[in-house]
Amino acid sequence: MKPRLAQSVQAVPQSRIRELADIAMSMDGVLRLYFGESDLPTPQYIKDAAIHALRDGYTFYTENAGLPSLRAAIARNYKDLHGITLDPARNIVVTASGVQALHVSIRCVLDPGDEAIVLTPAWPNGSAIVGMCSARALQMPHVLRSGRYEIDFAALESAIGERTRLILYTSPSNPLGWVATGSDQERLLEICRKHGLWLLADEVYERLYYQGPVAPSILRKCRGEEAVIVVHSFSKSYCMTGWRLGWLVSRADLARKATQLNEFIVSHAPSMAQKAAEVALRQGEEELRTMVERLRESRDFVRNELQEMPGVSVPQAEGAFYLFPRIEAAADSFDFCRRLLIEKKVGLAPGVAFGEGGEGSVRICYAASRTVLEPAVERLSSFLRIYC
Ligand SMILES: Cc1ncc(COP(=O)(O)O)c(C=O)c1O
Repeated sequence: MKPRLAQSVQAVPQSRIRELADIAMSMDGVLRLYFGESDLPTPQYIKDAAIHALRDGYTFYTENAGLPSLRAAIARNYKDLHGITLDPARNIVVTASGVQALHVSIRCVLDPGDEAIVLTPAWPNGSAIVGMCSARALQMPHVLRSGRYEIDFAALESAIGERTRLILYTSPSNPLGWVATGSDQERLLEICRKHGLWLLADEVYERLYYQGPVAPSILRKCRGEEAVIVVHSFSKSYCMTGWRLGWLVSRADLARKATQLNEFIVSHAPSMAQKAAEVALRQGEEELRTMVERLRESRDFVRNELQEMPGVSVPQAEGAFYLFPRIEAAADSFDFCRRLLIEKKVGLAPGVAFGEGGEGSVRICYAASRTVLEPAVERLSSFLRIYC
């Protein structure tokens, strides 16, 4: 008899963004707006810092929690941006990417058979990781009211059951561009305190925010040792997607356990990348400001164009680099995106890929140059005229 794969992994679904991208990658001349990635390369000063780090001998193993100097730089950053004091030795763990921070965090709080409530539409990895822990992800869609997404707190609270251990949300959101308000953060914390739950905030887009230099972190609202975890990444703010570097902030017991688990997962993030990341945190502000300004212009350009199209409505988006328009003709969003790709060579991510509440919309990543965005919206517009 042939040995089979574990049922727990067979149940993990395929990403539907990847399914669309696989078709697109077999084609030439596609305007690719389906992945969550800027078209800008890593800034030169960060690349130089990595080269220096290699020359300086950062080619050996580091601590499981990451270099103490990087953790200190991350703590300093929280002080400067949010006025929060963190202990780099107790509260911060450097990880080999945001997704690894998410993975090890979720692994630390869920047992098989537990439940996690995931606010959706959301990047599919959170729910998939919950599934990989043999736990159940209960997806809770945001509701659209007067052109802005909101958390449905009544539905959220009534979904909490015996086995619920965790609420996971993303702000600024991929794919919505939605950002949690201070009152949202307080209500989420209240619910978690009342029901004895962990609150996991994915804040990897916090620096891509259009109403200030940083989207306020949930950590600003925490009192003492709260059951709160924040996951973060160097990927989006510093165009370092390929470097695989992130971090988590949490209560000391979870940080200690995540550090220990890191040994058995990746041991630690790459040494030279950690060293380069210290320089990114220290010197990155000016380049970041320029990038966010460019993103704001791109968001406004794409949003204005979308608003002119028939059967399209565009919810508010205050952060990240996505728009998530509802499109009447995209009731089957995968089929819509597949046809748009084949007929017009524009690659968008289907809303259905982002779970409950996502169907009927598409995600457009506008972190691309005008030479891509302009023909993309033009082709989408002409496709809608034919399709509608
Ligand atoms: C919401 C969200 N969280 C986490 C990540 C992970 O980023 P990375 O693993 O590149 O650090 C992404 C990447 O797209 C994301 O969109």
